Amino acid sequence: MSAPLVVLVGPMGVGKSTVGRLLAERLGVGYRDTDDDIVAEQGRSIADIFVDEGEPAFRALEKRAVHRALAQHEGILALGGGAILDEETRALLGGHRVVYLSMDVEEAVKRTGLNVARPLLAVNPRRQWRELMEARRHLYEEVATAVVATDGRSPEEVGQAALDAL
Ligand code: S3P
Repeated sequence: MSAPLVVLVGPMGVGKSTVGRLLAERLGVGYRDTDDDIVAEQGRSIADIFVDEGEPAFRALEKRAVHRALAQHEGILALGGGAILDEETRALLGGHRVVYLSMDVEEAVKRTGLNVARPLLAVNPRRQWRELMEARRHLYEEVATAVVATDGRSPEEVGQAALDAL
């Protein structure tokens, strides 16, 4: 069975896709993102899926997409920020090299702002960020084989730190 070279996890807006693409280019491998897989499969945006069917339905699609990509992809794989909420997904990540890209709450608010394309932040970004981080930080840490702080770093610096941490 094939497996991704590196799996990137971390909150939305932390730069998983930018850093993931950079790493893929540097290592000469493919890049895959489970959010993109879901959008392609469903033919509509993540925001539309949340609105039309609700978060639990999205999480079920996400779980399937993540498990499929973990079994199929051999390059760099970025997971949606909430993929680690699922216990079976966390268990499955146990056999992989997982880099957690972290950022603090103020950085998160600054980077994502009032981004309506990210349905989890639509009401009160700062409070929601704080709650999201409190609920998820330990889950990212649980699955991570390396943690790379992104605050104040360029995507190139983060990518280098991720390579150094492998
Ligand atoms: C989510 C993160 C998003 C996307 C969805 C839910 C989350 O992915 O899957 O909006 O729960 O944190 P990115 O982390 O790629 O933005």
